[in-house]
Amino acid sequence: MAEANESRIFPDHLFMVGCGNMAGQMLSRWLACGLDPARVTVLRPSGRPVADGVTVVTDYPDALPPGTTVLLGMKPYQIDDVAAALGPRCSPDTRLASILAGTTLATLRAHFPHVRAIVRAMPNLPVGLGEGVTALFTDERTDVEAKAAVDALIQPLGLAEWIDDEALFNRITALSGCGPAFLFRFVDALARAGEAIGIPAEQAARMALATVQGSANMAAEAAVSPAALADQVASPGGMTREGLNVLDADQRLLALLTDTLAAARNRGEAMARGA
Ligand SMILES: NC(=O)c1ccc[n+]([C@@H]2O[C@H](COP(=O)([O-])OP(=O)(O)OC[C@H]3O[C@@H](n4cnc5c(N)ncnc54)[C@H](OP(=O)(O)O)[C@@H]3O)[C@@H](O)[C@H]2O)c1
Repeated sequence: MAEANESRIFPDHLFMVGCGNMAGQMLSRWLACGLDPARVTVLRPSGRPVADGVTVVTDYPDALPPGTTVLLGMKPYQIDDVAAALGPRCSPDTRLASILAGTTLATLRAHFPHVRAIVRAMPNLPVGLGEGVTALFTDERTDVEAKAAVDALIQPLGLAEWIDDEALFNRITALSGCGPAFLFRFVDALARAGEAIGIPAEQAARMALATVQGSANMAAEAAVSPAALADQVASPGGMTREGLNVLDADQRLLALLTDTLAAARNRGEAMARGA
């Protein structure tokens, strides 16, 4: 039974080009969810081992086994060299997923002209815990079956959302891709603010993190939106309301986060132009 489930989720063979911070998190989650390591080959120049049973190579094999899904997980600027070596080893039935930031589907199609199924994915780091966010995009050359197969592969990583407009990628990257760093900053600021009003620093740090974690879990389970939850827990004249009034004044928290995301988005657009 477990085997049947596993074979519905995972490809017959997974060939990963690069397995660093991001692709490594994805692989560790897949292995934790039952992917057979014997079905995985990782190409990485260092040849460093990845996980028990996973084959690591430093050069391309002569051919990819039938039923291979390729995950491109190296740096975006390496696409020319990787495609020159990998392209001839792909068959029309090879499925290709790319997590290369800023590398458009058109660029991928130009590099792998005879591969039919190509999907762009933008994951974030909590995918390693199965609590990530991954945006997905493809075009009509990827058939329904291939699209479903990539979707099934991404599902164990957390929330997976297909987008219709590729231009959204950069904006989504600003939100969910960069979001973990913004949240880390928020947790740290909450802790330091606690310290500023007289809570011992280490205790404030522990409590700030646990508060954010518990509140995020609570919001995820709640029947109402986070905006409504905030009002529900703030009685008129109470402490929470007084604090919210500060965050809400002139929509300062919203303005701060809008500026933050816009700056990240703008940087992504500049990088895509080669700036
Ligand atoms: N980090 C994130 O939060 C994040 C989020 C979304 C998307 N991405 C995308 O994920 C990709 C990888 O980012 P990362 O942060 O994981 O980088 P990374 O940790 O530096 O990993 C890069 C990987 O590429 C391998 N590599 C280097 N040169 C190669 C070559 N010529 N051919 C094949 N593989 C090669 C490296 O091999 P060794 O292991 O042997 O050094 C390493 O495994 C990027 O395209 C990025 O846009 C990253």
